[in-house]
Amino acid sequence: MENSHNMLSSLPSVLILFFAAISTAAVPGRTFKRNTDPLVDIVPLSPGWTETSSVSCVARCAREFLTCRSALFNKVTRHCTPGSWLLPSPSARDLTQGTLYSTAMSCNGKAESFTYAADNGVMCAWLSPRRLNYISAREDCIANQARLYTIRTDEKLELLLRHYPPDRDQYHQDKDRYWIGLDDLENEGLFIWADGTALADEWKARVFHPGQPDDHLGVEDCVIYNASFGPLNDIPCNDSWQYICETETSA
Ligand SMILES: *[C@@H]1O[C@H](CO)[C@@H](O)[C@H](O)[C@H]1NC(C)=O
Ligand SMILES: *[C@@H]1O[C@H](CO)[C@@H](O)[C@H](O)[C@H]1NC(C)=O
Repeated sequence: MENSHNMLSSLPSVLILFFAAISTAAVPGRTFKRNTDPLVDIVPLSPGWTETSSVSCVARCAREFLTCRSALFNKVTRHCTPGSWLLPSPSARDLTQGTLYSTAMSCNGKAESFTYAADNGVMCAWLSPRRLNYISAREDCIANQARLYTIRTDEKLELLLRHYPPDRDQYHQDKDRYWIGLDDLENEGLFIWADGTALADEWKARVFHPGQPDDHLGVEDCVIYNASFGPLNDIPCNDSWQYICETETSA
């Protein structure tokens, strides 16, 4: 470490400028990449400080904060803002605020995932590439220290509608239909979320398609998110669909 510092301070400034312009900054154990998604925003860990480059901005963030997962560096003002996991932003971020760097989300190593705020910190959800029946899907989430996705608030519903909106392509009609964590397997008519809470009547009327759940033919005990339809619908638990799991974020 000492040696590399000495080396860096003796480098010509043009080379240092070159380093500042690269889009990846590696710090021990974590790689920060430039993030150009305008629909994510930083969760600041402190008001920040003045820094010489994006590389040193990211490095100090990682050094000072165990939970550093992002950093915003403003090339003009040289202000560096350290951040935690990124969260979805309700509207497009002001890109003049600076360049955003972030580490890949380790949502149990799942590729297709998104994050959201919860009482106990930042949570993440991912879409399983596999199609399974409801019971196997539930078990797979649990095997991944997670549970099937719950939708108890408008925010959680909006997240799904944003990430998995109605698919208008008639040849891919199953691209917007996924198992979530809601069923009445234990007691017919009493729907329970994967977090153990009961489905409230008022919310049931809002999130299910009108007339659903109807326990059609007496075999529909599990609930699917069907973006263009309600969006919730009760269907047979032994149907196979992709599914969404949710869990706490990890390093
Ligand atoms: C999903 O909704 C469409 C209508 O938008 C309907 O035709 C289809 O049967 C629904 N599928 C499930 C599994 O709920
Ligand atoms: C699901 O279960 C129902 C009733 O138990 C049965 O009629 C149906 O054939 C099963 N479907 C599949 C795909 O296993």
